[in-house]
Amino acid sequence: MSADTPVALRDLAIDVAREAGELARRRRREGVRLAATKSSLADIVTEADREVEALIRHRLSEERPRDGFLGEESDASAGDSGITWVVDPIDGTVNYAAGIPAYNVSIAAVRGGTDPATWEHLAGAVFAPALDEMFSASVGEGAWLDGVRVEVSPQNEAGALLATGFGYDPTTHDGDIASVRRVMPIARDLRRMGAAALDLAYVAAGRLDGYFERGLKPWDFAAGALLVREAGGVVSRSDIDTPRPLLVAGAAALHDAILARIVQS
Ligand code: IPD
Ligand code: CA
Repeated sequence: MSADTPVALRDLAIDVAREAGELARRRRREGVRLAATKSSLADIVTEADREVEALIRHRLSEERPRDGFLGEESDASAGDSGITWVVDPIDGTVNYAAGIPAYNVSIAAVRGGTDPATWEHLAGAVFAPALDEMFSASVGEGAWLDGVRVEVSPQNEAGALLATGFGYDPTTHDGDIASVRRVMPIARDLRRMGAAALDLAYVAAGRLDGYFERGLKPWDFAAGALLVREAGGVVSRSDIDTPRPLLVAGAAALHDAILARIVQS
């Protein structure tokens, strides 16, 4: 049983994310099999998503049997310790299925239940197995890429390198593209990597300057949001009572500029 300190929770998240990522990578090499589609035909789940989540759940419950669990591919369970693990076994599943290396395992520990509005973020790890990069953070102890402390990027005169994502529901694409149009005047360029946790990890590491997306699920941003905050950045969620809350991340001034442009009428 590991201790309750944020650093101990982070170290556990790192160990489990690495083990899970290695399984995902091995399965990828063996060939990916689709298990089902979810909210739309574009929203897929592979057998590896389910197997990797089962591994993570098993490992966490061995170490921390009293904690709750909220994962993308299985039913949530409430614990009685006050801590919940929020897990995306494979974030970037479409990339994973297509053989594009931008996928990751995202594991976070929060104080609170299944509603992100109640969370106090404690620790998180985002591991990209195909790139062998481990991003991690615990509250008050900074954000790290492997052994190196990282920070969000300072203001860039060339404009901001931004990232965004689109949900799987085609009826929402027009609205998301309208947001992109409003933000592009402050952008140097725009990336759409297809893995929200990696977008946030890259903002934390100063590779991207900012990121915005509507409609993320709790497991998409639980670890990444802590990474950005611990790297000195700001993460906000607005419109949380709508089906597609807006998440914006970046250094404070850039965060405010992105948010103002997206919400302008
Ligand atoms: C998706 C990815 C994608 C984002 C979607 C997410 P998944 O997660 O993070 O980049 O645009 O909103 O649902 O389905 O690959 O775990
Ligand atoms: Ca996923």
